[in-house]
Amino acid sequence: MSDDTPDVIAELDDLAVHFPTPAGTVRAVDGVTLAVHRGETLGLVGESGSGKSTAGLALLRLVDPSAGRVRVAGADVTRWSRRRLRATRRHVAMVFQDPQASLDPRRTVGDSIAEPLVVHRLATSRTARRERVAELLDLVGLRADTAGRHPHELSGGQRQRVGVARALAGEPDLIVLDEPIASLDLSVQAQIMNLLRHLQRDLGLTYLFIAHDLAAVEHMSDRIAVMYLGRIVETGPPERIYRRPAHP
Ligand SMILES: Nc1ncnc2c1ncn2[C@@H]1O[C@H](COP(=O)(O)OP(=O)(O)OP(=O)(O)O)[C@@H](O)[C@H]1O
Ligand SMILES: [Mg+2]
Repeated sequence: MSDDTPDVIAELDDLAVHFPTPAGTVRAVDGVTLAVHRGETLGLVGESGSGKSTAGLALLRLVDPSAGRVRVAGADVTRWSRRRLRATRRHVAMVFQDPQASLDPRRTVGDSIAEPLVVHRLATSRTARRERVAELLDLVGLRADTAGRHPHELSGGQRQRVGVARALAGEPDLIVLDEPIASLDLSVQAQIMNLLRHLQRDLGLTYLFIAHDLAAVEHMSDRIAVMYLGRIVETGPPERIYRRPAHP
């Protein structure tokens, strides 16, 4: 590998994800090739229904590919079993658009954040888990006593901080951010963006940042990929995509 060959953390290779429905097959992702390079923020933009979330879920193997390959940390995980994937999941984590929906309302914040620690056997004693949860809460700017709260007791911004803490728990290299600020108030959006930027710098994270429009990810992204009808139609540095948009 030469010095200018990017270190690829995760990639989709001619990936297709088709969903059978009563009305026919939905080709949510229809031949996507995408490589996420270590240390970068790759923006993935496209109109609603273009397949962005499905592509992100495929990187975590949370949906099953119909064709093509998924590679994570050099391993072809396309056909790995759930059990085997548990080890891989540590490399890639996801933050969802709606923290309200992605957090279990009946569990405390501490239990939700600790779940990946249990699954990946990162903290085996109760004490170790409690300490790690407190550390993770601190990382995302929340007080340690937030661990005892339930999601409905928190503001939208606090809930999304919990979503980020949960994603960080598995010590991932890559985080898929699926419209992580879209459900938040404008003032809170800026705070969460700042948090994500700081975490990236301090922890050396790589992001795949999914958004509806270019403006949302332009400043944050090193490269942008544009999706349209299940395909990537354009990839390049934000300046180039912004000035010469090839698609709506
Ligand atoms: N589990 C599923 N079963 C059937 N169809 C699905 C499923 N998940 C997604 N789809 C369909 O696949 C297409 C792509 O959906 P996806 O959620 O990936 O798009 P998106 O780009 O993330 O959209 P948005 O910007 O609205 O979040 C849509 O037509 C959607 O309705
Ligand atoms: Mg989506």
